[in-house]
Amino acid sequence: MTQPEPNDLNRREFLSRTVLAGAAAMLAACGGSGPTGVTNGPASITVTLSDFPALGVVGGIAAVGTVRTSPVAVVRTGATSYLALSRVCTHQACIINVVSNGFACPCHGSTYNSQGGVTNGPAPQALARLTATLSADSLTLTIS
Ligand code: FES
Repeated sequence: MTQPEPNDLNRREFLSRTVLAGAAAMLAACGGSGPTGVTNGPASITVTLSDFPALGVVGGIAAVGTVRTSPVAVVRTGATSYLALSRVCTHQACIINVVSNGFACPCHGSTYNSQGGVTNGPAPQALARLTATLSADSLTLTIS
């Protein structure tokens, strides 16, 4: 049985480290990911409101897609007004769920009202708001 030469060990170690570094670089180049593994989305999305029946009434809430690293929910706040909120919990970045009167985090129990305000911690602050622009014909909403 032959013992590996010191140079062989160095070569193996070098190759191992090179492969690991290459894999890390490839993952970083793939666009990375957002909170809790959310894949990066586009800088803005346009949603057709009729695709989300919950938004047919004032007070309705619907999860509509992902903008950058944030899954987004839209709240209908009036006849022609909407609020777009990030669904990333402000505690430790879990993705919150839409519930009947707002949002609930499955990780540690934080809850938010339909305006994004914290109604039960440990979340330290309100949900982030995004810009929501209603089209002239009121059929689509662009969120950025
Ligand atoms: S991550 Fe939402 S309550 Fe902790």
